[in-house]
Amino acid sequence: MNTIEGMKRSCLVAEFTSEQEGSELTLMGWCHRQRDIGNLVFITLRDRSGELQLVIDDQSPVEILEIARQVRSEFVLACKGILRKRQDINPNMPTGEWELHVNELRILSKAKTPPFYIEENIDTGESLRLEYRYLDLRRPDLQKKIIKRHRITKWTRDFFEQQGFIEIETPMLIKSTPEGARDYLVPSRVFPGKFFALPQSPQLYKQLLMLSGYDRYMQIAKCFRDEDLRADRQPEFTQIDLEMSFVQAEDIMELIENYLAYLWDKSEGYQIDLPIPRLTYAEALRRFGLDNPDLRFAMELHDVSALASQTDFRVFSGAIENGGSVQLIVVPQGSSMTRREIDSLTDYVKDYRAKGLAWLALEAEPRGSFLKFVDHAWIEQVKTQVAAETGDLLLFVADQTDVVYDALGHLREEIAKRLNMIDENKWSFVWITEFPMFEYNEDEDRYVAVHHPFTSPMDEDLHLLETDPELCRAKAYDIVLNGNEIGGGSIRIHDEDLQNKVFNLLGLSKEESTERFGFLLKAFQYGVPPHGGLAFGLDRLVMLLTDSTSIRDVIAFPKVQNSSCLMSNAPSSVAEDQLTELGIELTDLTDS
Ligand code: AMO
Ligand code: AMP
Repeated sequence: MNTIEGMKRSCLVAEFTSEQEGSELTLMGWCHRQRDIGNLVFITLRDRSGELQLVIDDQSPVEILEIARQVRSEFVLACKGILRKRQDINPNMPTGEWELHVNELRILSKAKTPPFYIEENIDTGESLRLEYRYLDLRRPDLQKKIIKRHRITKWTRDFFEQQGFIEIETPMLIKSTPEGARDYLVPSRVFPGKFFALPQSPQLYKQLLMLSGYDRYMQIAKCFRDEDLRADRQPEFTQIDLEMSFVQAEDIMELIENYLAYLWDKSEGYQIDLPIPRLTYAEALRRFGLDNPDLRFAMELHDVSALASQTDFRVFSGAIENGGSVQLIVVPQGSSMTRREIDSLTDYVKDYRAKGLAWLALEAEPRGSFLKFVDHAWIEQVKTQVAAETGDLLLFVADQTDVVYDALGHLREEIAKRLNMIDENKWSFVWITEFPMFEYNEDEDRYVAVHHPFTSPMDEDLHLLETDPELCRAKAYDIVLNGNEIGGGSIRIHDEDLQNKVFNLLGLSKEESTERFGFLLKAFQYGVPPHGGLAFGLDRLVMLLTDSTSIRDVIAFPKVQNSSCLMSNAPSSVAEDQLTELGIELTDLTDS
């Protein structure tokens, strides 16, 4: 019989209690392994709770022994039997003291041999695992992560509910809301030639909900962004999205700190030190080169432009003449690094637009890539300025300062990884505040919003909107954990005139802003409370809390680098009549 007719499962495979010793259990699950030793068959039965050994021997009915012999890995089984203590305890198995002596066994479903072992820590390539994601998801390590994700989501909802937040769903088919990425578009059948966008975030809707008086909103929200993917980016991802009325940045940051403390206590039993330290955007760049710095180690940047400008090294003086700077990081005890290692670091910084990496190994007789341009006295001065010691390695980048920051900021983290300078047991949170409102986009020849166009300028910088928009700072904040931006938010503009002024600076004409955000501007005429909020990247939070290296590991069905799904082969072609109905005609795309 391949049904469970007449059988009712007692519990999950590993969830029986010791009081059940000697009683009959009905269990169902997958065969993890079958061992046939003549008149004795062992089957390890597995489900999401764990594993238990089944024993079928000469005291079991003969027909059961026959069935047990046919069982192969990944067959789905139902069985009845008596729970008893094992004679040979398996200390490597949580249920290793127990076994089920089987007196009824059914094969509910057979299985082909899977393309990889359903086990923890396999080294099978990721693409094969993603093609058979449903099998990959059977593996205990992935199951633990997916179940932990559920717990984290649940604790999150609990916390915000206690704080008076209401979960409200916002639409998926919307008018485009810009967050700086490309939209995914959905054609409308009813309005041929018109499109919905999938939300990059619920930003405008949550602001409207504040205007509607909901006061505190939260949502576990799906977001869609058509952007280049990395280990921490997916085209569809999930935010813990929040918005609050009648608050200032301080109120939001305090609440978020309490949330993080609650979550880390629940999840890790770890007490976060509050308040979480803060760095302004400018200071983060100056000291660490990045606006999402990893503070689990030091190795800060040093600006040595003044000394560098005194040398005849054209790489240095040229960069400074062009308005750039020369900066360095000190690798403690790094002077023994080989030329090959330094060359590989040079290649590394080139990915971040640096033209090269000049180096100086502080040994009794210094070695370096530009020694002929400097003397001992100069080296001593640099050593004093950056408090370096004999045995250290100095790595210099000379360029426009934004390139220097980006290259040294990433190099700093790469070296810390390569030299094991990071304490993996540390949780290092930091707020980054006072982001600039705008940055100039050379390609588009206009200002773009650093956060998004609804972010409020800082009160003390309002006058800069007229004169120096690029110096104007925003009431925006990001929360960074171990070098990962896990969340970001801002206080919003709640004044129609100011909102129009910002749209204007972003190069949107009155007509364009009315066309795109008219509904928001119209709403703003009906009484808007001051409001602000934040969104966490849930996938990134779960990635860090499960010690994963990619958010793909904490998403049940993720996409790969080129935004496709290896399991279902989405995206795919659609039937001609589906396109006709939508009024869409395809051009020949074979060459592009
Ligand atoms: P932001 O664009 O900073 O802000 O997004 C918030 C957080 O979402 C995560 N995140 C991503 N995670 C995975 N894949 C992606 N492609 C991806 N993009 C972003 C990051 C990020 O910190 N509406 C605003 C929030 C607000 O102002 O309230 C917003 O979306 O962890
Ligand atoms: P070159 O003069 O090109 O042989 O470079 C001499 C040294 O300076 C090499 O170690 C290069 O990697 C390094 N270098 C070249 N350009 C830069 C730069 N912009 N910043 C820092 N070092 C550089």
